[in-house]
Amino acid sequence: MIKTKLEEIKNKALKRIEESSDLEALNEVRVALLGKKGELTAVLKGMKELSAEERPKVGAMVNELRSDLEKRLNHAKDVIDYKVMEERLKDEVIDVTLPAKRPAMGHRHPNQIALEDMQNIFIGMGYEVVEGPEIERDYYNFEALNIPADHPAKDEQDTFYINGEFLLRTQTSGVQVHEMEKGKLPIRMISPGRVFRSDEVDATHSPSFHQVEGLLIYEDVSFSDLKGTLAEFARELFGEETKVKFRPHHFPFTEPSAEMDVSCFKCHGKGCRFCKGEGWIEILGCGMVHPHVLEMSGIDPLKYKGFAFGVGLERIALLKYEIDDMRLLYENDVRFLNQF
Ligand code: DAH
Repeated sequence: MIKTKLEEIKNKALKRIEESSDLEALNEVRVALLGKKGELTAVLKGMKELSAEERPKVGAMVNELRSDLEKRLNHAKDVIDYKVMEERLKDEVIDVTLPAKRPAMGHRHPNQIALEDMQNIFIGMGYEVVEGPEIERDYYNFEALNIPADHPAKDEQDTFYINGEFLLRTQTSGVQVHEMEKGKLPIRMISPGRVFRSDEVDATHSPSFHQVEGLLIYEDVSFSDLKGTLAEFARELFGEETKVKFRPHHFPFTEPSAEMDVSCFKCHGKGCRFCKGEGWIEILGCGMVHPHVLEMSGIDPLKYKGFAFGVGLERIALLKYEIDDMRLLYENDVRFLNQF
């Protein structure tokens, strides 16, 4: 009688195992058969009613059926696992013969191209490229450059102050002071970097832009060295036929000071829309380093002289690539950048 019961359990189980199409269903079958409250467990529990003689026989039959069903359940699980894996592999299939996608390439920014051009020109003249801090002491940005406390440039409307002592540099000229303080002479350096001014954004202004500072200190330097150097720089940057013009100007840290214009490289000086009819385009400030500036940084102005200059990097990039709105330089739209 028990035998028929076991037979029945087995047939029912085989059918249910066969019908289980996923792991969850299969697990339900496993629990219903072999679990604590499962059918086979119930048979084992009922064994105490059997005679001592029958008990081991029935025990052996139940155990045999149990291990048989376990094997079948495991096999069914393997089959389901395999099917699931096959489905997944089908989804993940890769056609290695498809043509590859072209990787998107970055592009050098016009500022970077202009900067590398300028650096190469000055490196060719024996200048060294050095960097200075963007967060600067008031002393380096102003005082050591002869800019007195009541100078309008020191106004909070123009300068981002961090506290009474530190600020975001408004010019790269402070790097001159750091270089001179090192005490290694002579000096031939340029220093590119980011500067900050509390300006509203428009086509020609930004609160953060870049300058390239230049400084040369030697025993015997005159204004004609300054002119020769910067004229050569302009010719290499804008073309052999470029003419330069120096106009007297004022900077607190140079004496005499000047601004340098280059002949318009579009109309060659005749006057056009690009140079606003002037024929000339202003590109930098420069001058002979003020003796007091030399002195403050520990250089004897009777023994050494020097010249300095400061160029707006964006201004050069805009001119060179004929871009009419500075904001384009900060948007980093690749469709724009790819044109240079
Ligand atoms: N620092 C000046 C500015 O921001 C530019 C400048 C002018 C730098 C004359 C110099 C210089 O080194 O000699 O407008």
